[in-house]
Amino acid sequence: MLPPNSFKGKVVFITGGGTGIGRGLTTVFSSLGATCVIASRKIDVLKATAEEISSQTGNKVHAIQCDVRDPGMVKNAVSELIKIAGHPDVVINNAAGNFISLSERLSSNAWKTITDIVLNGTAYVTLEIGKELIKAEKGAAFLAITTIYAKSGSAFVVPSASAKAGVEIMSLSLAAEWSRYGMRFNVIQPGPIKTKGAFSRLDPTGEFEQEMIERLPCGRLGTVEEISNLAAFLCSDYASWINGSIIRFDGGEYVFLSGEFNSLMKVTTQQWDMLEQLIRKTES
Ligand code: COA
Repeated sequence: MLPPNSFKGKVVFITGGGTGIGRGLTTVFSSLGATCVIASRKIDVLKATAEEISSQTGNKVHAIQCDVRDPGMVKNAVSELIKIAGHPDVVINNAAGNFISLSERLSSNAWKTITDIVLNGTAYVTLEIGKELIKAEKGAAFLAITTIYAKSGSAFVVPSASAKAGVEIMSLSLAAEWSRYGMRFNVIQPGPIKTKGAFSRLDPTGEFEQEMIERLPCGRLGTVEEISNLAAFLCSDYASWINGSIIRFDGGEYVFLSGEFNSLMKVTTQQWDMLEQLIRKTES
């Protein structure tokens, strides 16, 4: 956790801020003194989260209804954000849509739905806010939440993987282009973090959870608090020179799955003794 009041006087805009990781992000930024503005489709859920967090932290949390797929709604949400709280200092593109599916079962609308939320939604929010910030001559820290398979690709979540990869390239491109306006753009690529929204769509029976844990060398899933603390750091003045970075945040999953000899983890000490003897014998 950063020092108290690290975000005092700052405005933080979070899409998908009502539930899951978005709710965790709102809690941490609000606890650190920020005025948070959260946006998503379900205004009742947003309002309940806003009130709960606000009464816990003593800092105002505003709720704005917005489907990021709709450019008109995004434009209105950004106007409202500026009207009620001012230009944001931090913008977090966290809203996402995903489900596991055989790719041969995806309709064009299924593809469009996911890529509209993840890639186009992030673009609409970022461009709309970016233009307003440029006009106001004000900088900001942007953060996008993607996934480790935005780099590797992944079976059964192809629209999400493709859209998240696009979000990463958008962030890197704007990190180069809009740095001159005082904006910076970074990305967190989380591995598995258990939230109801994600796990109900990615592990609906609950039977893959143990397998996921076995793929993590640290032996556990990530937590919402952990990713929220990293996000707070990246968007804070302590990280003011971090721009255009993609931070993998996965308990070592990516390297564990990709290292050619990592499966030797199961070799016992006795087996290692035997292997060592065999290797030394061939050398002599
Ligand atoms: N398998 C295959 N296709 C699916 C599907 C599944 N499990 N779930 C939805 N679809 C298809 C639908 O059939 C529809 O296509 P069609 O019109 O050709 O039939 C298309 O995807 C859109 O689905 P719909 O339910 O109308 O969209 P929605 O806007 O109501 O919901 C989702 C969007 C599907 C992404 C929904 O899961 C959602 O709201 N998610 C938000 C939160 C989230 O996904 N969090 C996880 C992040 S990791």
